[in-house]
Amino acid sequence: MAYSEKVIEHYENPRNVGAFGADDDGVGTGMVGAPACGDVMKLQIRVNPATGLIEDARFKTYGCGSAIASSSLVTEWVKGKTLDQALAIKNTSIAEELALPPVKIHCSILAEDAIKAAVADYRQRHVATDAGAA
Ligand code: FES
Ligand code: FES
Repeated sequence: MAYSEKVIEHYENPRNVGAFGADDDGVGTGMVGAPACGDVMKLQIRVNPATGLIEDARFKTYGCGSAIASSSLVTEWVKGKTLDQALAIKNTSIAEELALPPVKIHCSILAEDAIKAAVADYRQRHVATDAGAA
């Protein structure tokens, strides 16, 4: 399996690896797994309650190079975005940016699902704040 240069670049220099404390204020956590291969991706966002913007993100991915690159890429993409803008990130954009081959498309779907899960978790735990910022 030949990885694209962009996948290898993210794989070798992953951005925003790590985790926020689960109880940190303003954090939403998404944890998703790919049934096809058993890979697991944890993605967290930290939202500034005053602006409603995602100011930081972290990920930990137990998976293939494409899954690691996909999560690294989306942690960069979500920064500075509103929650709705983050939800609009499509796996097809991730796959295109990383030049993923068809068998690796599900790795980018994992990243899209992880963002959606993180936003949903944030919204569930910060109902008032989110509504106020909207
Ligand atoms: Fe091998 Fe995902 S199937 S890392
Ligand atoms: Fe399953 Fe990449 S091979 S996430």
